[in-house]
Amino acid sequence: MANTILVGAQWGDEGKGKIIDVLTEQADVVVRTQGGNNAGHTVFIGKQKYVLHLIPSGILRKKKICVIGNGVVVDPVGLVSEMEGLRKLNIKLSGNLFVSETAHVVFPYHRELDAQREVLKGKNKIGTTKRGIGPAYGDKAARVGLRVIDLINEERFAEKLAIKIKENNEVLKAFGAKPLSFKEVHSTYRKAGDYLRPFVTNTVTLLHQAIRRGDDILFEGAQGTFLDIDHGTYPYVTSSNTTSGGACTGSGVAPNRMDRVVGVLKAYTTRVGEGPLPTENAEIADMLHAMGREFGATTGRARRCGWFDSVATRHATMVNGIDDLAITNIDGLDTVETIKVCIGYRDGKKKYDYMPNDVEVLSRCVPVYAEFPGWLTPTDKARSWKDLPPKARSYLKAISELTDAKLFIASIGPGRDQTIFV
Ligand code: GDP
Ligand code: IMO
Ligand code: MG
Repeated sequence: MANTILVGAQWGDEGKGKIIDVLTEQADVVVRTQGGNNAGHTVFIGKQKYVLHLIPSGILRKKKICVIGNGVVVDPVGLVSEMEGLRKLNIKLSGNLFVSETAHVVFPYHRELDAQREVLKGKNKIGTTKRGIGPAYGDKAARVGLRVIDLINEERFAEKLAIKIKENNEVLKAFGAKPLSFKEVHSTYRKAGDYLRPFVTNTVTLLHQAIRRGDDILFEGAQGTFLDIDHGTYPYVTSSNTTSGGACTGSGVAPNRMDRVVGVLKAYTTRVGEGPLPTENAEIADMLHAMGREFGATTGRARRCGWFDSVATRHATMVNGIDDLAITNIDGLDTVETIKVCIGYRDGKKKYDYMPNDVEVLSRCVPVYAEFPGWLTPTDKARSWKDLPPKARSYLKAISELTDAKLFIASIGPGRDQTIFV
């Protein structure tokens, strides 16, 4: 399979977890390189549902090496609880899971600051997952963060944490929030640090040993292209590089070691949280929600829904260098009579065939639609390209042409067997 970067090509929740699980069959190593437990990656194996937040979805297949890379921000308490959950389901972790010693640590003050800043923003809030992601990456950039390597060094940890708690309590007090107890945070984090110590290593050298062995590595993106801190709809974004470049900096594997980029996208569009979503449509949202679909895997919030936006996905192909497309949730459109696809934007007299950078402009943009006849047939039982209704095949071909990348996978259900290699 070679070294493959998998990214979300929309606003997150494209079905990356499912596709990672499918592609892991051919991979040796799976790596998370950015984000934190703001991610929620769903995998169904038979009737068993797994939701992964920090641990690569590859962990569900036996004998695969899974790595939490240096670019991830790790909430150690969250990670321990995720590990415990997997162990209860008989998933083996020792010898399979490795955590970077240089990944930054998320603390309770990050989560509290995340929440307080949202309150302060009022109607301009981002709609974050309140997992402390922004403040943790903020500390990393400001060079005042603590890393996993500090967490597992008892003496150094106590010393550094004391300073951090003191400083952040002043900030929390200014917000009118409750200060944190050093003793409590210290004891919880020390416990988590002890639990994690055997898994912590230099993941950069580990990955390069794997490359020298000829292993195939799959880089599991979190979030999506338009939540990227540089390329997304700033400030309505997350705080990491969710685009393909993030896989290099977040793992220590150089661009010339990468072979291919797979973009995962839904056959329609969803977004959770605030910020512009040009093709948002209440009818399609009501339809999907009534089917019990499109509720967030991390926060349970109802996702905003809209038509497929090819202006956005074409931009995603450009910034990520997407070679192949995995289009998911095709079955979500099974009952739609006329399917719309956005092929351009209009802001008054001005037309755009690309995404404007100014979110105010993007918020004003009205989509220009092309229409496709719906197939009005259930697709979830299809197992080959030929099983799909001709109108569904035409739709998929059209959106992959508009997105400017090759159709590789068509997904017609959450299960492993509901995956068609095109
Ligand atoms: P991720 O964050 O990109 O991994 O995506 P999420 O897991 O947050 O959300 C995707 C949702 O779609 C999950 O509930 C998946 O089980 C589900 N899913 C993925 N592919 C398909 C598909 O082709 N059809 C259907 N019906 N569900 C899918
Ligand atoms: P996966 O990996 C969808 C969104 C939040 C919010 C914005 C900033 O499952 O696709 P943050 O907590 O990161 O500071 O929130 O980003 N967001 C996601 N939306 N899927 C995700 O991850 C997301 N991770 C963050 O809803 O709008
Ligand atoms: Mg998700």
